[in-house]
Amino acid sequence: MNVEAMKAYRIAPDVKLGKDVKIHDFVNLYGCEIGDYTKMGTFVEIQKGAKIGKSCKISSHTFICEGVMIEDNVFVGHNVTFTNDLYPRAVGMHGKLQTEDDWNCIRTLVKEGASIGSGTTLLCGITVGKNAIVGAGSVVTKDVPAETIVAGNPARILRSNINEGTFSRSSSSI
Ligand SMILES: CC(C)(COP(=O)(O)OP(=O)(O)OC[C@H]1O[C@@H](n2cnc3c(N)ncnc32)[C@H](O)[C@@H]1OP(=O)(O)O)[C@@H](O)C(=O)NCCC(=O)NCCS
Repeated sequence: MNVEAMKAYRIAPDVKLGKDVKIHDFVNLYGCEIGDYTKMGTFVEIQKGAKIGKSCKISSHTFICEGVMIEDNVFVGHNVTFTNDLYPRAVGMHGKLQTEDDWNCIRTLVKEGASIGSGTTLLCGITVGKNAIVGAGSVVTKDVPAETIVAGNPARILRSNINEGTFSRSSSSI
């Protein structure tokens, strides 16, 4: 492991870091797994149970929660928010703060080579397909097919087959 020397980050002892991971100041990691050569910017937080693949770029101010799995070579822009609970509540039926026993973590998968534009929010339970691109500021509510560009709120397909050079246009929802 060769973490680039930085002054002010927190990496809990239970984090599994690959080799040559680059971590900038004010990053907060706990209970997660980060693949070789992945790089993350300032103020990134990654929760327990999240898994990030190899050679990913996680840009500053991004939040990756429990239940998120990101495969290799994925780009995540600035200020991207993942979620893991569609109907969140602070307290349970008896008025006490919820604990882990009171809710189910819903998973999200980002497949190899995909890119998530800055300012995107991803609702949980979805898959972003291989090499797909999510436009900046999107709210992703459904699966994103492989090799497509989606954008908007809710995110809709702008182009499909982007890696085959066909660049077919579409306005269908995802
Ligand atoms: C989505 C994106 C990849 C462009 O894809 P594209 O298929 O080339 O899209 P185009 O630029 O041809 O635009 C097609 C339409 O989508 C709209 N559009 C483009 N990006 C959009 C976005 N992020 N959100 C909403 N609409 C968007 C355009 O205004 C255009 O609309 P129109 O047909 O009504 O004129 C790009 O705009 C984008 O958002 N990239 C991510 C940038 C980013 O976050 N980078 C992070 C590192 S700094």
